[in-house]
Amino acid sequence: MDIKQANLADLDELYQIETKIWHSDAATKDSLTTRIKLFPEGFLVAKINNKIAGFVNSARIGDIKVGKFSDLVPFERVFKKNGPIFYIYSLQVDKAYRGKGISHKLIDSLVEIARDLGCRKIWLVGSDENTSIGFATTPVYERWGFKIKKCLPNYLEGKPGSLMEIVL
Ligand SMILES: CC(C)(COP(=O)(O)OP(=O)(O)OC[C@H]1O[C@@H](n2cnc3c(N)ncnc32)[C@H](O)[C@@H]1OP(=O)(O)O)[C@@H](O)C(=O)NCCC(=O)NCCS
Repeated sequence: MDIKQANLADLDELYQIETKIWHSDAATKDSLTTRIKLFPEGFLVAKINNKIAGFVNSARIGDIKVGKFSDLVPFERVFKKNGPIFYIYSLQVDKAYRGKGISHKLIDSLVEIARDLGCRKIWLVGSDENTSIGFATTPVYERWGFKIKKCLPNYLEGKPGSLMEIVL
């Protein structure tokens, strides 16, 4: 498996994975394009035999006060070019490739990039309960070293999530 920075040639494949998971809530191609263009260093794809198996994208953001999940969207509003925090915006692995540790490797690679760029903290939001999208990820991220910073009501499908953090 290769982990590489995403580029605009990946767009169709990224959008296909995104829509298979999120259906009508999927990010648009325009939104994925913006994320690649604004912050390519924070958009990684995992490729197996030259096919995208999963991806993660992130934004550098300011040390903002987060009260609810909507404070962390949309990407172009929260993105700050030299922000001190690396916020993992979206993580997805195509169903055919799940359970092989791909998401863990994507996050590990991103943590290294954040460190190299001199960022102070990594943030992400985990889901506290199972949803139609998948299983509760908060306990998984805790095993990977993220600490719960704040509980966020109404994260996904009316269910709560947790803003989680690693201090670098
Ligand atoms: C969440 C997702 C990215 C995980 O991708 P993956 O590459 O299959 O994950 P990994 O193989 O790296 O495993 C991740 C962890 O999840 C655990 N896991 C896998 N399937 C699980 C399940 N059905 N229930 C509970 N835990 C599960 C694994 O044991 C592993 O934990 P560990 O590293 O502590 O052993 C993938 O399922 C996905 O794309 N889901 C839909 C989108 C989504 O929910 N994104 C995250 C939003 S917070």
